[in-house]
Amino acid sequence: MEFKHISVMYNECIEGLNINPEGIYVDGTLGGAGHSRGILERLTSGKLICNDLDTMAIENAKKVLGDKLDKVIFLHDDYKNLVYNLDQMGIDKVDGILLDLGVSSPQIDDPNRGFSYSKPAPLDMRMDTEQELDAKAVINGYSEEELAKIFFEYGEEKLSRKIARAIVREREKEEITTTDRLANIIERCYPQGYRFKHGHPAKRVFQAVRIEVNGELEGLYDFIYNVALRLKVGGRMAVITFHSLEDRIVKNAFIELEKDCICDKRLPVCVCNKRQEVKIITKKPLVATEEELANNKRAESAKLRIIERV
Ligand SMILES: C[S@@+](CC[C@H](N)C(=O)[O-])C[C@H]1O[C@@H](n2cnc3c(N)ncnc32)[C@H](O)[C@@H]1O
Repeated sequence: MEFKHISVMYNECIEGLNINPEGIYVDGTLGGAGHSRGILERLTSGKLICNDLDTMAIENAKKVLGDKLDKVIFLHDDYKNLVYNLDQMGIDKVDGILLDLGVSSPQIDDPNRGFSYSKPAPLDMRMDTEQELDAKAVINGYSEEELAKIFFEYGEEKLSRKIARAIVREREKEEITTTDRLANIIERCYPQGYRFKHGHPAKRVFQAVRIEVNGELEGLYDFIYNVALRLKVGGRMAVITFHSLEDRIVKNAFIELEKDCICDKRLPVCVCNKRQEVKIITKKPLVATEEELANNKRAESAKLRIIERV
């Protein structure tokens, strides 16, 4: 299968990273390697660490970055292990980090991966196909309360309880193993005239299950905070998010990193030792232009936030 992914806010990311041609960069979410290629084209003696949980992304990048591989170090891991991996490689500080969170188009489009509610497929949704927990285990193994909780928290789904109840009822008849059966159960929880009012009715539950399966929000705040401290002074980190839960976490981590002294103002001297670590470059997140949206609908919910180490 051809690996086709249009990089979101490509120019904004590459310009936003303010690339030092001799620097060390990290693309934590390699995907189709579009952003990676952009970074590599600006490097002379610099290096790029290309990381992804998905072996398919790494194998594809080995082909599409063929002429630039001498500058690339591949890592097949969770980006949340980046600080540890930098230590393992003996790299103290880097010049820039890019994170383009979420799923790539080939992951959504590949019917075998089970990410999409619009294609019949086995319920899977794992970014790392070597991982044990998949969507089938969540849908058939979690209690009704646990399901309702993740649908509400990760999908902001208003009918979370009703959908969880329907899933439990249905799985008692027969295990739910496919995306289309799950989508159909969700669809029937909505009154007919209302079903497609806010996009596909299964959209929010599928997002929630994907977040749960891949632990997307777990440890994200701490990771963003800690990895930013591994930037050299003047180094930048750019993060693209695709839903409000993720964006809120990134935004809050950036705000915390930017804060200087958080002592009670009535204290005569600072006792907290908190110092400003970064400057926020994007006071408001950047979003895709109309022109980009005309070519790539998947950029619709994207938000790009950039910080610079001080
Ligand atoms: C939106 S795509 C990146 C697209 C890429 N920027 C490009 O230009 O083609 C997101 C990628 O991040 C990967 N990914 C998601 N969560 C990850 C994690 N926790 N650790 C490592 N990779 C992850 C996915 O496997 C996917 O390939």
